Amino acid sequence: MQILVTGGTGYIGSHTVIELIRYGHTPVIVDNLSNSKITALDGIEKISGVRPEFYELDVCDKAALSQVFKTHDFAACIHFAGLKAVGESVRLPLEYYKNNLLSTITLLECMRENGCKCIIFSSSATVYGDPASLPIKEDFPLSTTNPYGTTKLMIERILRDFQFANKECSVTLLRYFNPIGAHPTGLLGEDPNGIPNNLLPVVMKAAKGELTLNVFGNDYDTPDGTGVRDYIHVCDLAAGHTAALKNAGKPGVFVYNLGTGSGFSVLEIINTFERVNGVKVPYVIADRRPGDIAACYADPSKAERELGFKAVHGIEDMCRDAWNYAKDR
Ligand code: NAD
Ligand code: WQD
Repeated sequence: MQILVTGGTGYIGSHTVIELIRYGHTPVIVDNLSNSKITALDGIEKISGVRPEFYELDVCDKAALSQVFKTHDFAACIHFAGLKAVGESVRLPLEYYKNNLLSTITLLECMRENGCKCIIFSSSATVYGDPASLPIKEDFPLSTTNPYGTTKLMIERILRDFQFANKECSVTLLRYFNPIGAHPTGLLGEDPNGIPNNLLPVVMKAAKGELTLNVFGNDYDTPDGTGVRDYIHVCDLAAGHTAALKNAGKPGVFVYNLGTGSGFSVLEIINTFERVNGVKVPYVIADRRPGDIAACYADPSKAERELGFKAVHGIEDMCRDAWNYAKDR
């Protein structure tokens, strides 16, 4: 299948492109390179032997995106493009609403005008807010605590309304838990611009001696008091997208958690990272980070039951592959 991948030079998109090629699909990437580098294409080519077609454009630019649709026949779109930094979204809400919502609406218009009937959307576990119980199932109540999360929830709603009005369409909402790790070859990984916010990129900067890691709170109601999350290897997450393509021909709205179902604390991550990589991660215990929750992990059984998807990589693989990519950068 020819598949349009928006945000395909980004962290999760680039790993998914590898997986699509492995399954014999033809991915076509559009990205404005606002948070990724064109060199991701070199990594993709070295790993897969294929250099996918690439268009540097903003998905909000209807004329430019329409041109891409006119010259291809896409069986599906996988929509990764978006801004994703929680803290930045609090400072720049308009930029987040404009980019994330307008890109999605523009993409849907192009799909409708060109007869493309399947979209897979990158949603997030952030749409569950502070869950009343764990593990989190897809039918739990939804709420958000920051503009980034609200864009995800609003886009989920837009996609549901779009599907209601276009009954022949297939909409899949994939709610990612905490993606970490990198391609085991070390050729693709996460390269955040500026000061990182997420735990693993900060752990790796600390391991390089570039900063001291602040552990945000050790007084949560968790086994060791630090925050617990469901970390999923980015290659597993990528495989979740090829699995989700099984729904491509089925009309309806499908929602899946993509996680492992296991929670790890911040201290467990630090200890595992130090052990598998033989490095020290200097850290101090700091205050809780505003907006954080104690624990969050998925019930991943629906994706396994309906898509045959199950994450196979453990936390050691995630820490090893992440460092293998980042250590010399
Ligand atoms: P990323 O920033 O590495 O990739 C996103 C890509 O989209 C980047 O290459 C960026 O240049 C591009 N982009 C942004 N706005 C664009 C626009 N208007 N037009 C064209 N390209 C645009 O992020 P990622 O971690 O790969 O995340 C991919 C998707 O998954 C995002 O939608 C993100 O919100 C979602 N997600 C990520 C996480 C996570 O922790 N990484 C968790 C849950 C959901
Ligand atoms: C993980 C744990 C922190 C940094 C965010 C988004 C979510 C999704 C994934 C996109 C928490 C602790 C972190 C640090 C720390 N993204 N931590 N020191 O907050 O679970 O989720 O990324 O959709 O929407 O909210 O991930 O990696 O920031 O934090 O102690 O310097 O690590 O408190 O317990 P989070 P994270």
